[in-house]
Amino acid sequence: MREVTTKPRCARAHSNIALIKYWGKRDPGPLNLPAVSSLSISLDALHSTTELIVDDSLSCSEISFFEDGQPRPSSGANTRALAFVDMLRRENNIEGHCRIRSNNNFPTAAGLASSASGFASLVHAFSQAYALAWSSRDQSIWARRGSGSASRSIFGGFARWHRGVKVDGSDSFAEEILAAEHWPLNVVVATTTAAQKKVGSTEGMLRSEQTSPFYRAFIDAQDADMRLAEEAISSRDFSALAQVAEHSCMKMHGLMFASLPPLIYWRGATLDALLRIQELRRSGVPVFFTSDAGPQIKAVCEPGAVKEVEAALSEIPGVLSTTVSSLGPGAHLLPEEFSFSDLVDPAVSP
Ligand code: PMV
Repeated sequence: MREVTTKPRCARAHSNIALIKYWGKRDPGPLNLPAVSSLSISLDALHSTTELIVDDSLSCSEISFFEDGQPRPSSGANTRALAFVDMLRRENNIEGHCRIRSNNNFPTAAGLASSASGFASLVHAFSQAYALAWSSRDQSIWARRGSGSASRSIFGGFARWHRGVKVDGSDSFAEEILAAEHWPLNVVVATTTAAQKKVGSTEGMLRSEQTSPFYRAFIDAQDADMRLAEEAISSRDFSALAQVAEHSCMKMHGLMFASLPPLIYWRGATLDALLRIQELRRSGVPVFFTSDAGPQIKAVCEPGAVKEVEAALSEIPGVLSTTVSSLGPGAHLLPEEFSFSDLVDPAVSP
């Protein structure tokens, strides 16, 4: 008999950025299976905090989203998250409903992997509230069904998400390959716009698969890129990691550009930042760039280079702000004394 709790359960998970990118699905259905394996690092400074309260008096589950403590208007994200919660309830034979509040401390759906930290924190809170005794691997598999990259946000440090081959998806999960302490890298996130992206990743991936002449080449090179990146990480070889990570990023954006109609997630400032980072590296600064399906640039660097990298990126016209992060932990429960309401702006708190 499971000990379901009606006390609030608050979980936190961190955003991650892929160094070896995931773009493409082998099964776009409810199992959400990737066409490639991928590798990411967890970002300490960007996180989602999700509170879940089991409440069987409700006739349906409820969810509300916040950004930096301010409520976000209900949108497609609410519908998607509620459908995900209903799937979790159905497939785990849970009859009652729950109330959920989730806060991102960074811009939502703008290429900073808010769906990764959001779904990972939701799965962790759900497993704790309903005492589901899921292993981290189980959580990764459930989180994958909300958003592919969420499978990696269950873990801290350096994470590998396996493509897997099974049709039921049971071998497509992430795992931590090395802890953050193995190689304490920093990431400077340069935000060029907080606007939400126009084409979501599922639609974009499908479009690339159907129309981009470079899609197949990207998929075929992925295993070799994964091996190179893992070797570079285990031996802390910065220049080898820089080379393979930038190549993976450019290959993904290259195939996006060549999709029909083209998928252009970058802005002018994104490209200026990218070129500046390359210049810095040529002058000996240990830094490389990466960028997901959005206009933000992430500069991965050795701790000693953070100040110089941040100053250089801040000077670029069109860079609105920079955030420095170290590598973060995996999804975890916050202490019982933590109150979600403390995150919410008192002026809007119910
Ligand atoms: O997890 P999704 O469905 O939002 O897709 C993420 C895709 C990229 O961020 C562009 C790459 C990645 O590996 O995270």
